Amino acid sequence: MTISYILSSIAVLLISLFFLFFRSNPTTRSDTMANTSATEALLDELRQNPVDPNSFARPDLSRVDHILWKAFVNFEKQTIGATVDLTVQKQTETVDEILLDTSGLSIDGVTDAQTGQPLNYTLSPSVAVFGAKLTVKLPASVRSTVRIAYRTSSKATALQWLKPEQTAGKRHPYLLSQCQAIHCRSILPIQDTPAVKQTYDAAIVAPKDLVVLMSAVRDGTGAVHQSDNSATKEYRFKQKIAIPSYLIAIAVGDLVSKEIGPRSHVWSEPALIDRCAYEFANTEKMLATAESIVGPYVWGVYDLLVLPPSFPFGGMENPCLTFVTPTLLAGDRSLESVVAHEIAHSWTGNLVTNKNWGHFWLNEGFTTFLENKIVGRLSGGEPNRQFRAFEGLKSLKNDIDNLGRDSPFTKLLIDHRGVDPDDAFSTVPYYKGHTFLFYLEQLLGGPEVFEPFLRTYIDNFKYKVIETNDFRSFLQNYFSDNKEALSRIDWGLWINGTGMPHIIPDYDQTLAKECIELANRWIAAADTDWSQFRANDISAMDAWQRVEFLNNLLAAPEGKISAAKVEAITRTYGLQDNHNSEIRCLWLRLSLAAHCKAYTADAVQFITSQGRMKFVKPIYKALYAWDETRQLAVDTFKANAHQLMDMSAKAVAKELHLNV
Ligand SMILES: *[C@@H]1O[C@H](CO)[C@@H](O)[C@H](O)[C@H]1NC(C)=O
Ligand SMILES: [Zn+2]
Repeated sequence: MTISYILSSIAVLLISLFFLFFRSNPTTRSDTMANTSATEALLDELRQNPVDPNSFARPDLSRVDHILWKAFVNFEKQTIGATVDLTVQKQTETVDEILLDTSGLSIDGVTDAQTGQPLNYTLSPSVAVFGAKLTVKLPASVRSTVRIAYRTSSKATALQWLKPEQTAGKRHPYLLSQCQAIHCRSILPIQDTPAVKQTYDAAIVAPKDLVVLMSAVRDGTGAVHQSDNSATKEYRFKQKIAIPSYLIAIAVGDLVSKEIGPRSHVWSEPALIDRCAYEFANTEKMLATAESIVGPYVWGVYDLLVLPPSFPFGGMENPCLTFVTPTLLAGDRSLESVVAHEIAHSWTGNLVTNKNWGHFWLNEGFTTFLENKIVGRLSGGEPNRQFRAFEGLKSLKNDIDNLGRDSPFTKLLIDHRGVDPDDAFSTVPYYKGHTFLFYLEQLLGGPEVFEPFLRTYIDNFKYKVIETNDFRSFLQNYFSDNKEALSRIDWGLWINGTGMPHIIPDYDQTLAKECIELANRWIAAADTDWSQFRANDISAMDAWQRVEFLNNLLAAPEGKISAAKVEAITRTYGLQDNHNSEIRCLWLRLSLAAHCKAYTADAVQFITSQGRMKFVKPIYKALYAWDETRQLAVDTFKANAHQLMDMSAKAVAKELHLNV
């Protein structure tokens, strides 16, 4: 979506409100006009925020550096009731307030935590996805602790409340969070910008039969507290490394753990735990490999939490506790590279952090680059690393085609003024960013020189927040004796250019070759001649080569893959029974693109049994694109939207041209 889309939605909303007020009570007209201009003024304030246009926070004036969160998780009301102590440091003595982001929060009171004196505060009207600005008058001292008592809305966009029947065990409810990019404000009044890093302590009270986990080191539990009709227990956490708000995470459910390494446990519902422990057994190897490239892992614990199927992402790099989707449980560790990616974030993103969402490629491009290095080191070496890079270009091309080649969201550096970061989200920062770094590595002398550079870059910027220009200056300085190579980098095109990267490195295609050849044979085959194909055509290919094979079929010229051909491919390679989620998604897309009716029930089953955006979006899109399944897409969405997290439901609704 674009800026004008958001503005026009707001305009429509305001106009409707205006008419509501005007018709019921004409005297409120001037109030409504005042509200309109108040909203405009707030949107303007966001646009002009020099730190982050998606946040009201002004950390250049006063800054939170520690959070103490005491919260009660109420599954009946689907809310969290809490007090939060924000330790605030004024940046200059003349500052007398702090600006916080909130979304849907009911504020019960604001006090000075040291004296108990009430502090004056105002809550602005809410503006679109950015929420409402909470302005708190600070005590006179340069450093103070502001205590805010509040409750979350049952519609908090960062939270998903699952009923027992939506979990694997079916007996207990489940709560999960996803704060990136700007959803933390729906659970905490906070400076909700990656430009601010803070440490946190938390004490969370939940029903005694459930376990609470957070993106922090576990710090013990309290005794069971029995009241009239409930028994609760307190779980405590400590995050001693300063982190941005988007890395605050919580999960509450019927959870158990199993040790999978010297610093790692995997957590899940009891029914899945053995499968999870098997799938992620290489976690320590990946951590050690990452350390050999970029230096020590500083977070102490590295645990994994395998979430219920509605989790919208492949993984989320919540510190000390990566969240992952259960769609990684392929049974053969073939999708473990997502864990390599989240591990890589322990350096790129979580230590060296983008200052705002416009510079997101600094988080994701570097992480994809490091992920591929880890994966290559663990299996297949440089050819495998380059194969993955080559594979990534396909997703990039697909996204750029969907966004439009001239879309501003296809730039590495995105202008986020007035833009919901969820709308700008695509694989561009991942794979265009990766392509840029791969290009730089080749240009500047290969891995032998670029890996030491990467390590120095991380060491230099760890615990900080940076912009694209910080990276640029650091690189130019580091390689200053290689002026000739530096002069060849067209920063303007790399950073500000739209569409596919203007230079695509010449990736090693050894591993891609047989996948492409097999796909080409299918594409060329006449519609009745399947005799040349055998099940063992693909038996030597790993899961990602099969993905490459299917991707090539999907990119075939129009009319070359008929419904009958899809059925033959499916039978030959047993694709209907393949439950590797990456393969399944591509196979279903191929089948729908070929207008093959045989597997529409499988498609519906696939998008109603999990909510990972990478999978539900393209399948819904493909169902919608075919006139025979369009209504099925809409009906399926309407019947199942409540199972999706807010951000996934919004993304799918967009594919279906529905308003939510
Ligand atoms: C990219 O565009 C921005 C905004 O127009 C500009 O300030 C910046 O200098 C450009 N960067 C490069 C490397 O050309
Ligand atoms: Zn990532």
